[in-house]
Amino acid sequence: MTRKTSVRQGLLARRERFRRALLAWYRASRRRLPWRESPSAYGTVVSEFMLQQTQVATVVPYYLRWMEALPGFAQLAAAPESRVLKLWEGLGYYRRARNLHRLAKAVVAGATPREAEGWEQLPGVGPYTAAAIASIAFGRPEACVDGNVVRILSRLTRDGVLHADGARAARSHAALARGLLDAAAPGDHNQAMMELGATVCARRAPRCAQCPVRRFCAAAAAGDPERYPRLKRKTTESRSVVRVWCERDGRLLLHVNPPGSRRLAGIHELPTAEQAGLGDARAGAGPLVARETRGITRYRITESIHRARPPLRAMPGLVWVPIADLDSVAMSGPHRRWTGRILGVRPA
Ligand code: ADE
Repeated sequence: MTRKTSVRQGLLARRERFRRALLAWYRASRRRLPWRESPSAYGTVVSEFMLQQTQVATVVPYYLRWMEALPGFAQLAAAPESRVLKLWEGLGYYRRARNLHRLAKAVVAGATPREAEGWEQLPGVGPYTAAAIASIAFGRPEACVDGNVVRILSRLTRDGVLHADGARAARSHAALARGLLDAAAPGDHNQAMMELGATVCARRAPRCAQCPVRRFCAAAAAGDPERYPRLKRKTTESRSVVRVWCERDGRLLLHVNPPGSRRLAGIHELPTAEQAGLGDARAGAGPLVARETRGITRYRITESIHRARPPLRAMPGLVWVPIADLDSVAMSGPHRRWTGRILGVRPA
């Protein structure tokens, strides 16, 4: 038996004790989050979509507002897309909102699945989200494996494998996650793992002294938890984008993607030079009013916003929005921030 197999076997042999320690800790010290108390299918779906790429603390106020405005699948399915995007505004990755909207329409038109397999057929639901919904809302014995869970399992076993990416690491830990799963309380077990990853078994400076499952952890015993999981370094690529700030008669020029476009349909943004029908060099010749560098997936994107004259040619997707009405259109977070900042510093 290899060292790796024996560590896994040892852990699985003690799984009853592991589950008990994890659940007792979770039930005593979990954060009281609004989607955790008597979870409904709808509340679980909404929270899992919001949590896909966003931290719990950011999600809570959005979740509460959303549930108040659109309390069930039927209300969401009937809502216009502009309202859905407006409620999502600031959470980013708007594809999630559009998928959630499509999912609600599918649920209303058909039946609510109870099994992970059924959920996985719906828009925006991958294996992790399907397992989360099936276990939390329907008590199905499905194990969730996200980045948090991979981190915990790779430390428990001191997994020496260098994984090519997070998805492969998740697949390689799926069997162990299933083996450890508490089939009597799968929703709480999965959320306990997420909670442990978020609050104790952190990527940097894990708080092993407070960990309820420390005695099962090979990396804690060896004193090197931060070495796991081992993931190949991602290559990042730099990109720069020139955007324009055009004002005329109290209106601001924005670009809105048409319905059906893959990216951010219905979201208003400051136009790129290309969308405004200007070359980068011409658009960039005006005074710089804002610049920001952000990491999005594997890109480092520097966006420079230059004041420019209104374009002479009509370009698809350009709209003039009265500055007084900017609050009523859906805008992505960075663009909302930039327009606020630029308008805020302008003399009245
Ligand atoms: N991340 C994903 N799902 C979660 C949940 N239900 N609770 C806390 N964090 C999460």
